Amino acid sequence: MNPKEEKTLIIMKPDAIQRSLFGEILQRFERKGLKIIGVKMTKISDVLIEEHYSHLVEKPFFNTLKNYMQASPVVLIALGGVNAISATRLIVGPTKGHEADAGSIRGDYSMSGQSNLVHASDSAENAEIEIKRFFEESELFDYEKPDYKLINAEDHF
Ligand code: TYD
Repeated sequence: MNPKEEKTLIIMKPDAIQRSLFGEILQRFERKGLKIIGVKMTKISDVLIEEHYSHLVEKPFFNTLKNYMQASPVVLIALGGVNAISATRLIVGPTKGHEADAGSIRGDYSMSGQSNLVHASDSAENAEIEIKRFFEESELFDYEKPDYKLINAEDHF
């Protein structure tokens, strides 16, 4: 296996679902060459929100953030690929939509710092914790795709 092969967690937040952007956003990750290894729809519980955003629980905006994240179901997606974590963060863009570069998901579809459509793990350590937080081992799929070598050229190996 390529040593740079990584898994990362994406959350399609309630505004992505409400604004019918789920397909559009997922397509960007697929077209980049990332592999979908797990998908499910859920409403995130209080406990899991507090865990997932534990670095923000003391912030004055935490309750608003929590209400937003629970306003409707979200879709959880585990993606796999070479350098998947940094590549995915670039596709998503920085936190505030109005500051994100055009071409990124947040840059193209979001104006807000809170309602910014997508979560993407920010490090290998957090990706591992977040995938375990939201997926059972049996919900993650390891399978081969025939386009792998076309997408990941020899220089990655
Ligand atoms: P954070 O982990 O800092 O950013 P990112 O999602 O880009 O990794 O913040 C998590 C979410 O918290 C962010 O996507 C939106 C929300 N948030 C606010 O609503 N206001 C803020 O000032 C910050 C920093 C975050």
